[in-house]
Amino acid sequence: WGKEGHYMVCKIAEELFSKRAKAAVLNLLPESAGGDLAAVCSWADEIRFRYRWSSPLHYVDTPGVCNFNYSRDCHNSKGIQDMCVVGAINNYTTQLLTYQHSSSGYNLTESLMFLAHFIGDIHQPLHVGFEDDEGGNTIIVHWYRRKTNLHHVWDTSIIETAMKDFYNNDVDVMLEAIKMNITDEWADGVKDWKKCREKSVTCADKYAAESITLSCDYAYKDVEQDITLGDDYFFSRIPVVEKRIAQAGVRLAQVINHVFRKRGKME
Ligand code: ADE
Ligand code: ZN
Ligand code: ZN
Repeated sequence: WGKEGHYMVCKIAEELFSKRAKAAVLNLLPESAGGDLAAVCSWADEIRFRYRWSSPLHYVDTPGVCNFNYSRDCHNSKGIQDMCVVGAINNYTTQLLTYQHSSSGYNLTESLMFLAHFIGDIHQPLHVGFEDDEGGNTIIVHWYRRKTNLHHVWDTSIIETAMKDFYNNDVDVMLEAIKMNITDEWADGVKDWKKCREKSVTCADKYAAESITLSCDYAYKDVEQDITLGDDYFFSRIPVVEKRIAQAGVRLAQVINHVFRKRGKME
């Protein structure tokens, strides 16, 4: 996602934090955040070029198939295992679990900022895309009259168009609309969003599997090189974008609440 997408994910999560989680997050946030996780939700994108090793941690690609397989897909371009968004979510969650310990040796401020960002990214369908087109980055399209690429359409353009057309160009108005849907339209589904049967540290495997399915069914569907995407594409895909932002926020809160739960108690 772009800045707006990540901001909304973190804002949704913050409201769902437990007391313990709120206190721990406040304690770990850098001064620059002013006590607001959403203010540093895009930090991982800003340092992507300073910490070059972190660049592949924003996504995972499949060899052109509509399913996700951790051991097949989760590696960087040099083939080093676990260097993908799923591995990163598990890794930074594990690091944060050392918070209670006196000297963990990790920079948990960075662990938290990475985790909040990557749980957002893994819900952007094309962050779990095909290797050949780099998650849509090499698919050139026109978004209405502007030339861009399919990946950017899903990171930014759909959200921007929705803000302009429905939300008075105000990200907080869009955020309120999505939060409203979480408590009514999607309320029944929210319990299922939190279900997790994985034996892994987190359910990131499941989020990735959902994303590649959405990439195939919505993002890549009926798209070809140099195509113009407009109203038909926008109106059929905006519900997917809004739901993925909501899911990311709810699940980020779930992971953070679990990490900073009362010791010995399951949440
Ligand atoms: N670069 C290569 N694949 C990518 C993806 N799926 N998302 C973002 N950047 C990428
Ligand atoms: Zn992206
Ligand atoms: Zn990112």
